[in-house]
Amino acid sequence: MEDLFGSAAPYYARYRPGYGPATTEHLATTLGADGRVLDLGCGPGTIAIPLARRTKAVLAVDPAREMLAEGGRLAEGVANITWLQGDSTVLRALPPFDHVVMGRSFHWMDRRSVLVDLDELLPPGGAVALVGPARQPGEPWQPDAQPWQPIERRVCEEFGLDIHSAANSFHATGEHHDDVLAASPFCGLESRVFTRSLTWDVDGLIGLQLSYSYSSPARLGDRLPAFVMALRRALLDDNPAGRWEQRLATEVLVARRPGR
Ligand SMILES: C[S@@+](CC[C@H](N)C(=O)[O-])C[C@H]1O[C@@H](n2cnc3c(N)ncnc32)[C@H](O)[C@@H]1O
Repeated sequence: MEDLFGSAAPYYARYRPGYGPATTEHLATTLGADGRVLDLGCGPGTIAIPLARRTKAVLAVDPAREMLAEGGRLAEGVANITWLQGDSTVLRALPPFDHVVMGRSFHWMDRRSVLVDLDELLPPGGAVALVGPARQPGEPWQPDAQPWQPIERRVCEEFGLDIHSAANSFHATGEHHDDVLAASPFCGLESRVFTRSLTWDVDGLIGLQLSYSYSSPARLGDRLPAFVMALRRALLDDNPAGRWEQRLATEVLVARRPGR
């Protein structure tokens, strides 16, 4: 796990789009300016860095050292973030926090056990905020399909890379976060979706692909140059203009104990 995300970290930091100002604004307003926020599975600070400017303090925790190093580099000048190597199994050993944010990371954890720990650790008004791709209507977890994805999927298959190979709890159970939260003490749910448009070029799409754990440089090993060449050729054969538009929809799901 650590190695897969570790080798993806430079690509993650450079090519994964952030969640955008409207998402940060919503999180900041929801959690409040006085909060100490734990960003669990923080990666390179995708949420931690913009949120730190709007809240009291952020504790940014991730198991991958390389992700934390990217975060520290990107956060230069932001003083109220503490970067800590750790994971969802060490929550009780962390300094105190008031709220938790998890951006595309909850599915990597034993979700029920994390919520049991958070019920003990969070103060009465504490919120659990999940940030990630919005789902298609009627789908349990599948985000919007993008025009380049069938091409990427075909090239990944040629290299034996399968998105479903990742041993995460989405793929293991198909159970959406809503259902896991609804069965927990944090069953008061509020969802907001924020959309925006992005334009990709071919280098961006290749970098994006290398930021995923199932097709990271560590997973590819010495096949990395051949993969990059094959992906570039397939993408440009399909779309010689080399520009792809994406409508990016991000869901913020805020969970609280009822009545708080
Ligand atoms: C897809 S990245 C998300 C990074 C960032 N939060 C974002 O929103 O872009 C998932 C992150 O979760 C981390 N992770 C994986 N398993 C974890 C666990 N059990 N506890 C905490 N973080 C974990 C990975 O190292 C990786 O950095």
